[in-house]
Amino acid sequence: MNSIKHAVFVLLSISIFAGLPVAAQETTADHYELKLSPRLMELLRAEMKAIVVGVQYLPVGIAAAEWHKVAKTGEQISASYILEQKLTPAMRTELDTALPGHFKRLDMEFHHEAKKLQSAAMNHNAQLAAFHYYRLIEACTECHAAFAVAKFPGFAAPARAEHRH
Ligand code: HEC
Repeated sequence: MNSIKHAVFVLLSISIFAGLPVAAQETTADHYELKLSPRLMELLRAEMKAIVVGVQYLPVGIAAAEWHKVAKTGEQISASYILEQKLTPAMRTELDTALPGHFKRLDMEFHHEAKKLQSAAMNHNAQLAAFHYYRLIEACTECHAAFAVAKFPGFAAPARAEHRH
């Protein structure tokens, strides 16, 4: 038993510490401007608009226990992953190189959250569905605060804005 726990601990430590330098390096700047070609930017914005439709429905659907529709919406959101769309090889290369690792991680976490919401809905678990909805919105704010401050200037901290004067 103990040796299994130990092995799990070691594995976890390795994965946590292996991830640390990269994450720290990429999060030192508190926001980052994405440099994508107009084509890819358009794709990203289209993905956002598609997400918004589902996200607006979800609280109502969860509150009304419309599990089938909530699950389907969660599935659609998780399937709208920009990195998994049909892209030309050139676009794929551009995405791979232009998107910072931190962005890709946030995007992946966001889509995982949508999947978890889907399975909570399939289990008719209202509390868990509400929780994953909250996590989903948190993921929007996390990514926008890091990568879309130009689009959403409200993410600039009030304290810091005062210091600028
Ligand atoms: C992994 C990063 C990421 C996540 C997660 C994310 N967004 Fe975005 N979103 C962006 C970026 C970057 C832009 C800015 C694009 C630009 O500069 O116009 C954006 C722009 C938008 C826009 C404006 C689109 C337009 O037409 O210009 C909306 C609306 C939006 N996001 C909604 C959401 C919502 C709602 C969620 C969560 C449910 C979400 N986003 C999650 C990165 C993200």
